[in-house]
This record gives sequence, C-alpha cells and structure tokens, in this order.
Amino acid sequence: MTSPAVWASGLRKRYGKRQAVDGVTFEVGRGEVVALLGPNGAGKTTVIKMLLGLVRPDAGEVMLLGRPGTDPQSRARVGYLPELFRYQPWLTAAEVLRLHTRLASVTVPAAEQQDCLGLVGLADRAGDRVGGFSKGMQQRLGLAVALVARPELVVLDEPTSALDPIGRADVRDLLLSLREREVAVLLNSHLIGEVERVCDRVVILDHGRVATSGTLAELLGQRELRLRLEGVTAEAESCLGSYKKEGDQYVVPIIDLETVPDLVAALVKLGVRVHAVEPGRITLEERLLDIIRSGETS
Ligand SMILES: Nc1ncnc2c1ncn2[C@@H]1O[C@H](COP(=O)(O)OP(=O)(O)OP(=O)(O)O)[C@@H](O)[C@H]1O
Ligand SMILES: [Mg+2]
Repeated sequence: MTSPAVWASGLRKRYGKRQAVDGVTFEVGRGEVVALLGPNGAGKTTVIKMLLGLVRPDAGEVMLLGRPGTDPQSRARVGYLPELFRYQPWLTAAEVLRLHTRLASVTVPAAEQQDCLGLVGLADRAGDRVGGFSKGMQQRLGLAVALVARPELVVLDEPTSALDPIGRADVRDLLLSLREREVAVLLNSHLIGEVERVCDRVVILDHGRVATSGTLAELLGQRELRLRLEGVTAEAESCLGSYKKEGDQYVVPIIDLETVPDLVAALVKLGVRVHAVEPGRITLEERLLDIIRSGETS
C-alpha cells in the first residue's frame, strides 16, 4: 500500500496566549482532492504552514509522500501556492517559473514551462515583468509556480480569492485534471460552491480543531427526493402517508426511494398533477454554517 500524500497527526501551535491549532490530525490520499474549510482564524493557514515546514509545530508529526515533512526530497515534490506572496517585481513571469524549477531541482523544458503559463491563462504575458501584473494575474502566476515542477502533491491556500469567474472555472478544470493525473491536492477556500464541485473530501476546522471531516456524501447526507404536486386529494394524501410536507413539496427520505415510481403512478391515477420529482440535499455551505454555529466537534 502506498503512503498517503499528507499524513498529519496531533499538530499544535500556540501564538502567545492564543492556541491557533489545537491537535489536528488528518490525511490526504494519493490523487485525492481534499478541502480544508473553516471560518477566518480557524487555523487553516497555520496547519498548511506546519505541513510545509514554514511554521514549527509545538507538537505533532507530518509525513509528506511517505517521508518526514522535513525531508527535502519530499518537499521537492510538493507544489505550494501561499495565501500571501509577492514575487520579485523585476522578474518576468517566465523567469519566475525558471527560478522555481531551479529551486525545486527539477529540470522542466522551457516549452513545458510555457505550457504551464498557458494553463493559468498567462501565455501571452510570459515576457512581462511581474511588477506590472494585476492581483488576479499574480495569483495565476502563483498557481503556475505551484504546478510547474511536476508535483505529486499540490497545496493551495485560497487559489481563487482574486480570480474572475472565468479564472475560477479554469482553476476548477485544473483541479479536475490534477485529480485525473492522480496528483493529490489540499486546498483551502472560502468559495464553498467551488469546493463542493471538485473535492473528494472535506476537513472542517474551527477554533484550531477538526470539527468534522468526511466525503461530501458523508457530510451532506444521502439524497432525498422532493415531489411537487398539485390537486392532492384526501385519498392521495393517505397515499403520501407520513412524508413531511414543506410548502407545496413532499419530502421522501432515501430509505423510501425504491417506492417512488409506484408512488408517482398511484398519485397520477388519483388525478394528482406531478410537477416535479427532484433530488434535494443540503449544500456544503449550509452544512458548514450548521457546524460552525453549533460549535460541533467530533
Ligand atoms: N504569525 C502569527 N503570529 C501570531 N498569531 C498568529 C500568527 N499566524 C496566525 N496567528 C493566529 O492564529 C490563528 C489562526 O490563523 P490562520 O491564519 O491559521 O487562520 P485561517 O484559518 O487561515 O484564517 P483565514 O480564513 O482568515 O485565512 C488566528 O487567531 C491568528 O491570529
Ligand atoms: Mg488563511
């Protein structure tokens, strides 16, 4: 069995009186896309920095790609987009990439480096100095830096915070293509809708602790079906039995989904007009707000 891309156990970090990270344990499997979510100040960036050796943990252990987190050999195979960064303003985009491949001691042909700029939408800005880049263009370049040295694990701290909607969609495609190539991704974003579309698993941090973690299916629960009906007679009502009624919708729980085709046929026979039979489930955003507001910890 191959070792996970990230293995972190019992990470703790205190700044003065503030316990920023209070015993965080989690894993990212090879080729898995995992999101680290939580409110401002929850400890996400501190956890990421401890994984990468940029902040020294007070306690805990980190393994990256099967080696201790401190081993330069594992670091060279990790791509990282920091939350806050600034590249040397006098360098061109192409020069920044060249510098970072050299720092990672990886030989990447110039054409492949140029392709990497293309991936983040900067193909025509390769020769321009970074000092003249817009905020979003700097973030795109940051992504290219994280990807250029053929990493096996990519850690992205808010990759889309400065991006326009097209840029965000591009990053989504990029993450999906990384997953196809079995590159593991750990990302942190407040754009929950995006996370929900690309992530296999989610780790939710609150006050420096893992409030909950799991696959999207585990966190959001199984789907239910919602029936939107008109002209429900008393007889049809008895057919719908104990299903919860919300507005003009009846909610059929997952355990009863097998009965839906017969139920709809029976309702139609009774003269009920069936407008919609729709899957309904809570969104990741709703779940996240629930967890954070209730202070739930597992
Ligand atoms: N260098 C530092 N010195 C002092 N306190 C720090 C430092 N870095 C982080 N903290 C504190 O640690 C806690 C966690 O901060 P962190 O940056 O990890 O949060 P975050 O989850 O990434 O938040 P955000 O969503 O705003 O980026 C905060 O209370 C913060 O003030
Ligand atoms: Mg942060």
